[in-house]
Amino acid sequence: MNERTLTQVIPAVPASDGAGVKLRRSLGASQMLRHDPFLMLDEFFSDNPDDYLAGFPAHPHRGFETVTYMLDGHMQHQDHLGNTGDLGPGDVQWMTAARGIIHSEMPQQREGRMRGFQLWINLPARLKMQPADYRDIAATAIPERTLAGGRVRVIAGHWHDASGTLDGPVQRDGTEPTMLDLQLDAGASADVSLPAGHNAFVYAYEGQAEIGGESVPNRAAGLLGPGDILRVHAGDSGVRMLVLAARPLDEPVVQYGPFVMNTREEIEQALRDYRDGTLAA
Ligand code: FE2
Repeated sequence: MNERTLTQVIPAVPASDGAGVKLRRSLGASQMLRHDPFLMLDEFFSDNPDDYLAGFPAHPHRGFETVTYMLDGHMQHQDHLGNTGDLGPGDVQWMTAARGIIHSEMPQQREGRMRGFQLWINLPARLKMQPADYRDIAATAIPERTLAGGRVRVIAGHWHDASGTLDGPVQRDGTEPTMLDLQLDAGASADVSLPAGHNAFVYAYEGQAEIGGESVPNRAAGLLGPGDILRVHAGDSGVRMLVLAARPLDEPVVQYGPFVMNTREEIEQALRDYRDGTLAA
């Protein structure tokens, strides 16, 4: 067994997106701060409606997948394919923009806490121009396992331990992502098996943890080195963290806002298609 260690910490910095939603961005805060195939991780977390009410009115995507994971609050998704989804606490939306999707993501609450994540995962060149695909996964459809001093929810990929394997509802070709929500009480530890050769990182959104003797600060992406096992020790107040891993693509990335392709020509094509109304046709 080869233990993964912490190689880089990317603090989440305040950012604003959509029509002015305040959020914290770690991966993707600059185009240098990616972890192939992960492009971006945003956390939105506020008790103040002024921070989120404006939402994300209709906007396009091409060339990658967006994953929205709600912890608190309600958000409604609508897209040009006619999909409508109401996302509540614990629900996940897995959207494969691929060739193109135009959608809006609007808060369905006037007050109270809104908290969750949006993750962008790149697609391999061969899948970038496939038809768009969209899936809502209800909280009840996400398997959970009780651990010694904690629990884990398996959103994508697999969890392995002595009690057997737990499969998440999302299994994707290409990048084969793993997405776990891991909660550990103060002082508890967990061994997380992650595919060797996949790029991995963690994001502690409550409390703190230690990996290989290094501390993973709260609200930061902690990039991990190679290995097949991740050993997490929760800090004094316990920890809640996302654990993510996926197969790197090793392909050129050219990004222009919500379009992520392999070449400049493909970006120019995406802009033309969006202008001509054929992006998502
Ligand atoms: Fe979006």
